[in-house]
Amino acid sequence: MKPSVIPFKPSRKKIDILDQTRLPGKTHWVECKTARDVSRSITKMHVRGAPAIGVTAAYGFYLEIYSLLKNGKKITKSTGKDTKQFLDSSRPTAVNLSWATSRMVHEMETFFSENSIMPENLTDNKKIQNQLLTQIWKAAEEIHLDDAARCLAMGSNTADLIMKNVPKEKLNILTHCNTGSLATGGIGTALGAIRVLHERNRINRVYADETRPFNQGARLTAYELIKEKIPATLVVDSMAAYLMQKGMIDAVIVGSDRITRRGDVANKIGTYMLSVAAKAHSIPFYVVAPLSTYDDSIETGKEIPIEKRDEKEVTHIGGKQIAAEIPVLNYSFDVTPYENITSIVTEKGIFEPSGS
Ligand code: MRU
Repeated sequence: MKPSVIPFKPSRKKIDILDQTRLPGKTHWVECKTARDVSRSITKMHVRGAPAIGVTAAYGFYLEIYSLLKNGKKITKSTGKDTKQFLDSSRPTAVNLSWATSRMVHEMETFFSENSIMPENLTDNKKIQNQLLTQIWKAAEEIHLDDAARCLAMGSNTADLIMKNVPKEKLNILTHCNTGSLATGGIGTALGAIRVLHERNRINRVYADETRPFNQGARLTAYELIKEKIPATLVVDSMAAYLMQKGMIDAVIVGSDRITRRGDVANKIGTYMLSVAAKAHSIPFYVVAPLSTYDDSIETGKEIPIEKRDEKEVTHIGGKQIAAEIPVLNYSFDVTPYENITSIVTEKGIFEPSGS
């Protein structure tokens, strides 16, 4: 199974990022050659979705070192950590970003210690420069390929679980935000699982929340579902509970941007509300996420940094103001407590959060 669309085209000199803010209308690629370019693209949501942000940042890290060396600039002991810190500040909630940049810093520091060379002494040595660049390029590529493999494993684990636990031949699935090929380095997390279920002929219909205010569901998930020819219907976010009440939803499947030790899950704003409604209607609520989404340093969702975005995302549509002049609060994510989650499915298996 292949990704339905790719969010970026990396190469040794640049990464072209598909501008998702223009989808589904336009296919426009943004050329990025430095960490600054990549960070801007992440902040502006040209590329978004936790695993995709992580993969992009890994390539951004490589490109920063590449451009510094090619331009004859000095690398110092702190260059790796500074680049990481800069990339990490692009968006706060998805932990996959700092997970990927930490791996890149580690790769670079390992290179220096294994070759017993000080970063400052790299400037005049082209051979060792190229060795370093090859090593960190391979690390970024590995993060990318690894994410694709994780998506396939998660998809199959989720489909197995749902087929075992939901006693129905053809399923109606509700999903939120975009968690597909555009959000990852592979087929996706929640949407990847939906693709596997579809391949197994177990999908009756997917209900895709439009996902206000950025409309990742209406623009991106709908785009991917159409490409994959999966029967799907777009609904406004506030319709979800009513569909559940009418018995039209068999399971909810969503992704995540950060999962705490006890299993609290940060995901796109509106996910918590869905979990409350699903629980009230005894509908299973599945979270599909790679282990790179786990943040072992925190116990509860209260500790997750929640991004607040520009109020224009709420007040404007297509550049046109639709709201009256009023203060706006635009939290981009919320936290679903572990008690509301039936299972978290990773590439390594199933985790039933118990809060311990
Ligand atoms: O703000 P976004 O579009 O980056 O938010 C994306 C989500 O919330 C996804 O559900 C999450 O990253 C998991 S997807 C693979």
